[in-house]
Amino acid sequence: DEGLARDLYQLMEEAARHYQTQLRQHADKQKVDEYLALRGLSKEVVEDFGIGFAPDGWDGLLGRYRTNPDAQDKLLTGGMLIENDGGKRYDRFRDRLMFPIRDRRGRVIGFGGRVLGDGTPKYLNSPETPIFHKGQELYGLYELKQKHRDPERVMIVEGYMDVVALAQFGIDYAVASLGTSTTAEQFQLLLRSAKEVICCYDGDKAGYEAAWRAMETALPLLKPGDKVTFLFLPQGEDPDSQVRKEGKEAFEMRIDNALPLADYLFDTLSQKYGTDKGNLAKQAIALIEKIKDTVLANLLLENLAHKLGMNSSEDLRKKLGLTSMSTGAKAMAKKGLKGRGTPLRLA
Ligand code: GTP
Ligand code: MN
Ligand code: MN
Ligand code: MN
Ligand code: MN
Repeated sequence: DEGLARDLYQLMEEAARHYQTQLRQHADKQKVDEYLALRGLSKEVVEDFGIGFAPDGWDGLLGRYRTNPDAQDKLLTGGMLIENDGGKRYDRFRDRLMFPIRDRRGRVIGFGGRVLGDGTPKYLNSPETPIFHKGQELYGLYELKQKHRDPERVMIVEGYMDVVALAQFGIDYAVASLGTSTTAEQFQLLLRSAKEVICCYDGDKAGYEAAWRAMETALPLLKPGDKVTFLFLPQGEDPDSQVRKEGKEAFEMRIDNALPLADYLFDTLSQKYGTDKGNLAKQAIALIEKIKDTVLANLLLENLAHKLGMNSSEDLRKKLGLTSMSTGAKAMAKKGLKGRGTPLRLA
């Protein structure tokens, strides 16, 4: 209910302030300073993102609410405390660098906490709570909107550190999804936030897989005119490491040259099915079928036909009619015939 939500927002804000104070004043602050220096994070960017420190110990946060059982209950609901089987409560976040996660209105709704070094888990995130729904939020979107009311571009990356490092280097339009894959809701939010969406995942296996999944997630949402591109970093790099290596200008050159979604789709399939044109067309069409917008779907079919060395999607359709056209593709071709009064070449 609304009363609970209001109290949770307030407690989360207090927690963020608490961690910020610990970062400045705690007896172990030197340890954090060393880690910040190691990661090359400036005082300014730490402040801009409200980054804090959860010191080691079981009750650093809990202890502030010793005489307030109601607040303790709510901190538990808000995911800041854990209760063991014996009913004993303790701080969820201990000995970690704390990234507050804000909603679009700037309210703190959760945290990501990174170990100061090599422990596991590397990142600990707030659980789902009445005010925190991971799949619907983007880390850094509030901070981005503070700088650019109407941003031209928004770049989606994997991690908190990537967002913060890019911002420190002047690329202040990156946001992160709060888990492994970018959800449809998050993609919708990205498409509404800026004219151009750049997907830049890590240059490793997980990152390549995330990019392909993001492409599949984006397809049903796309409209003609949407610009979605994919930036692939050198093997082993992520946006944080790459921007530190080469700086803003070189990194922005990569952004400017990022691969348009359609090229990414076709290039990847070509690499996979290069010699097997029939299969290539089949796989491409299976993806194009995901697009709900018939105008865009037909544009991509046309594009595909040309890549396959045909004159038009008409030829492609005929060719596929000879082989086996999937029922889905047939349905789409039919839908295209009646689609919104637009003349469609597929028909
Ligand atoms: P740094 O090592 O600090 O540079 O972080 P990173 O963001 O480069 O980490 P990585 O590429 O390994 O992971 C990408 C993102 O996945 C992180 O930012 C986290 O959001 C998430 N992640 C990584 N490790 C864990 C983990 O152990 N647990 C959870 N829940 N999430 C993780
Ligand atoms: Mn800017
Ligand atoms: Mn990675
Ligand atoms: Mn990293
Ligand atoms: Mn990474």
